[in-house]
Amino acid sequence: LAPPYTVPVVVHVISAEDGRGEVSDRRIREQVDVLNRAYRGGYAVGSEGADTGFRFELSEITRTADDTWFDDFNRHRDTIRARLRQGGAETLNVYTAELGSGLLGYSTFPQDHSARPDQDGVVLAHDSLPGGGRDRFDEGHTGTHEVGHWLGLFHTFQNGCRNPGDYVDDTPYEREAAPGCPKGRDTCPERPGRDPVTNFMNYSDDACMTHFTRGQARRMVEHWVAFRDGSAR
Ligand code: ARG
Ligand code: ZN
Ligand code: CA
Repeated sequence: LAPPYTVPVVVHVISAEDGRGEVSDRRIREQVDVLNRAYRGGYAVGSEGADTGFRFELSEITRTADDTWFDDFNRHRDTIRARLRQGGAETLNVYTAELGSGLLGYSTFPQDHSARPDQDGVVLAHDSLPGGGRDRFDEGHTGTHEVGHWLGLFHTFQNGCRNPGDYVDDTPYEREAAPGCPKGRDTCPERPGRDPVTNFMNYSDDACMTHFTRGQARRMVEHWVAFRDGSAR
């Protein structure tokens, strides 16, 4: 299967009846632009980044103003997703909502789709989309990161310094998440390479994140073919 791997995107905005949590069409299009730039390698510095071959096409935006859903998205999330989700395993459904406390987003994994197809998708804090005002996290890379999970990636610090790490051979091992943007960090000194602080699958600030590796790109394509691409089955 050859690139591009085209992913249809449906975005569901959950807001309050007084307008809190609204996300404009323009900011949603900017989020999709960020995904396209990130997955093409467009934030990479020097030769570090891969063009993953994934491309994202916005096909629909739905809007639901409901105080019950907005006030506690996580409590109602199964109902909300079952009610709103569209398309097959290949369709990226993104829900924007108020997630409270420190939560920026979360995602299902490709393997989950077959058991719970109506729950498949990515949830993003509404203020994490570009221009959303979330401190250090409003450039759209929560979206980039969660879609990485949706395509089968783990965090770069998965399993710490121990095998099998994040199951990707060109991301150096890392003992723990790298908040902020630490320079030259090396938490697994017995392993080759410095910590992948600027990788999209770390926990660093949006402005610090620059790339996916070729190994991550390969893992995402494998998961896309095995679990998501309708035409491959
Ligand atoms: N903590 C979230 C997760 O594990 C998202 C982290 C996003 N990081 C960022 N710089 N936007 O899925
Ligand atoms: Zn994550
Ligand atoms: Ca690795």
